[in-house]
Amino acid sequence: MDDGTEQAGRAPVIAVLGSVNMDLVTTVTRRPEPGETIAGRDFATVPGGKGANQAVAASRSGGRVRFLGAVGTDVFAPRLRETLDAAGVDTGRLRTVDGPSGIATIVVDDSGENSIIVVGGANAAMTELTDDDLAVIAAADVLLCQLELPVPTVAAALRHARANDTLTLLNPSPVRELAPRLWAEVDIAVVNRGEARRLGAVLDGVPHVVTTLGGDGARHRGPDGTRLSVPGFAVPVVDTTGAGDAFTGALAVAWHRGPQDALRWACAAGALATTALGASAAVPDRAAVAALLREELPRSLPEKFE
Ligand code: RIB
Repeated sequence: MDDGTEQAGRAPVIAVLGSVNMDLVTTVTRRPEPGETIAGRDFATVPGGKGANQAVAASRSGGRVRFLGAVGTDVFAPRLRETLDAAGVDTGRLRTVDGPSGIATIVVDDSGENSIIVVGGANAAMTELTDDDLAVIAAADVLLCQLELPVPTVAAALRHARANDTLTLLNPSPVRELAPRLWAEVDIAVVNRGEARRLGAVLDGVPHVVTTLGGDGARHRGPDGTRLSVPGFAVPVVDTTGAGDAFTGALAVAWHRGPQDALRWACAAGALATTALGASAAVPDRAAVAALLREELPRSLPEKFE
């Protein structure tokens, strides 16, 4: 394992097609029952969205990241754009569309677990890819997508990537049923345990399946049926929001080093992302990930990120 600086060769170019949301985060002792009103402890607005979180994670892991997505014209939009810019993500293809940006209402309890409600806003306007978007995908080493944008757009991007020898990585979250022909364009699927259960045999045809196991680490199944598992890290968990995104963005950058090293790198990034509040705000940089890997902390299996 190197220190993740990608200095041996050029940094991988990652095209991220995905959502940008402002996360409205309330912390509570416990989450309310249906019909119950409780007092929250704190409130914060934190830039998020699965696409943006993964883009930030890929950039902080040393990738050269180009983002394809949309923000609105509301009060949140400038901060959402600035957050991507500050993380070194190329936002040249980030559109501004009339109306609200994507919003996620998130409740985080004392155990670090969350509940999330997403309203798509500007993300729903990503119904077409322009020629410039397609050129970004064709020129990238890896296309990274999730399912918070309209599915036909994701399908078109995956198809174009495949046709241009760009490796395709799909994090099918929020999980839903997809046409078999879309799965046929996926080289690597990154799923959590719940998604793996929901998708079941659909994943059998995907060459590489990476399953995140929260504090238990992650496992990989390759095209030849080979399997490997990587353990998790013992870290103090504050908020699991976006930990799977940190894992996925980091994995996309490290993938060229092979599954074993890539999963270790991604597990360390995912673990560190649970140690602070907020999704994109908690994504570690490559120095922090490398330090955690060097420390070789005792591994344990107490918490989970999904
Ligand atoms: O994966 C976490 C993300 O899901 C949050 O940032 C929220 O915006 C939702 O998209």
